[in-house]
Amino acid sequence: MKAYVLQGGFGLDHIAEVDRPIPTPGRGEVLIRMKAVSLNARDIGVIDGFYNPELKEPLIPVSDGVGEIVALGENAGRFRMGERVSAIFTQSWKSGEATQENWVTTLGSPLQGLLAEYVVLPEEGLVRVPQHLSDVEAATLPCAGVTAWHAIVEEGKVKAGDTVVVQGTGGVSLFALQFAKLQGAKVIVTSSSNEKLARARGLGADYGINYKETAEWDKAILEHTQGKGADHIVDLGGGATLNRSISALKVGGQISIVGILSGASVEGLAIVPAILRRARLQAINVGSRAMFENMNVAIEHHRLYPVIDSEYPFSQAVKALSHLAEGSYFGKIVIRY
Ligand SMILES: NC(=O)c1ccc[n+]([C@@H]2O[C@H](COP(=O)([O-])OP(=O)(O)OC[C@H]3O[C@@H](n4cnc5c(N)ncnc54)[C@H](OP(=O)(O)O)[C@@H]3O)[C@@H](O)[C@H]2O)c1
Repeated sequence: MKAYVLQGGFGLDHIAEVDRPIPTPGRGEVLIRMKAVSLNARDIGVIDGFYNPELKEPLIPVSDGVGEIVALGENAGRFRMGERVSAIFTQSWKSGEATQENWVTTLGSPLQGLLAEYVVLPEEGLVRVPQHLSDVEAATLPCAGVTAWHAIVEEGKVKAGDTVVVQGTGGVSLFALQFAKLQGAKVIVTSSSNEKLARARGLGADYGINYKETAEWDKAILEHTQGKGADHIVDLGGGATLNRSISALKVGGQISIVGILSGASVEGLAIVPAILRRARLQAINVGSRAMFENMNVAIEHHRLYPVIDSEYPFSQAVKALSHLAEGSYFGKIVIRY
């Protein structure tokens, strides 16, 4: 089988296509013929060595994908042959609160990822795929989808009439927009592009702010909400956005701390404004298998479709990763096999 590996150093120049034997499932494991994988900002962080400078090579990158079960190992009985499955991002986190041990079981670093024609995984680390979604659509769910679901529904408990802010128009943000609309919330999207803001309105966004043209976008949110602020803000920018998220928050509101698109630390955290807003800052780390399954029920019930930016064939996986690194997309980049 063909697979892509990161070896001999960091960066896209060190991604190579290799031939490997098809792996054999052991006890409690299944063999999956991969159909599609989707890319996340994290994948470039892994490939560039930013996430884990101590990474063990060679590593098959990419955490999210969908495939079909083609062999069952001894004692494997959760799925039938031919069923479509997705791997959960944090393989050992099934339900309830996570433990520190869970964090070393994430796919695509430190565990081997899915950018291979066949993978073997424990059946406990899989979920069924929503029926109405194509392979390409379903491949987008494990990291970006579950993170947004966790932030908006499981922790955020967003309800009808709430005002939710999502930052940018990448994978997590557009899922958060879609889930917030399912809950009946009003959604404000920020983006560097007016054209992307118009597309976000097509997905149901109620208001858009161009954060390049309006550097003080927190003030624009306060103005738009008659000075009250937003009930929930999904903070994806991190370094350059967290203080503005606090400033744009309603008293008693919640910020989901999710991303680090503009930096992984904040200089001068606005503690007093946070106290004055009684801000709840809740960090999110993707989610459990149970959250993934809950999300799939909602996606199926509402016949929700993920937003796909572009599709690449497996032979052009490096081109797809370069597209991710270059940053101009709306929604998800997917590689189909
Ligand atoms: N904690 C977790 O569990 C978790 C899970 C998934 C992802 N993440 C993190 O969340 C972030 C988003 O991930 P993703 O996969 O959705 O990324 P993505 O698809 O690559 O999204 C990138 C988009 O974010 C927007 N953006 C970039 N810089 C921004 C800034 N300073 N302020 C506001 N928006 C900005 C841009 O939108 P426009 O082009 O519209 O401006 C860009 O297109 C990343 O930092 C990722 O590492 C964390």
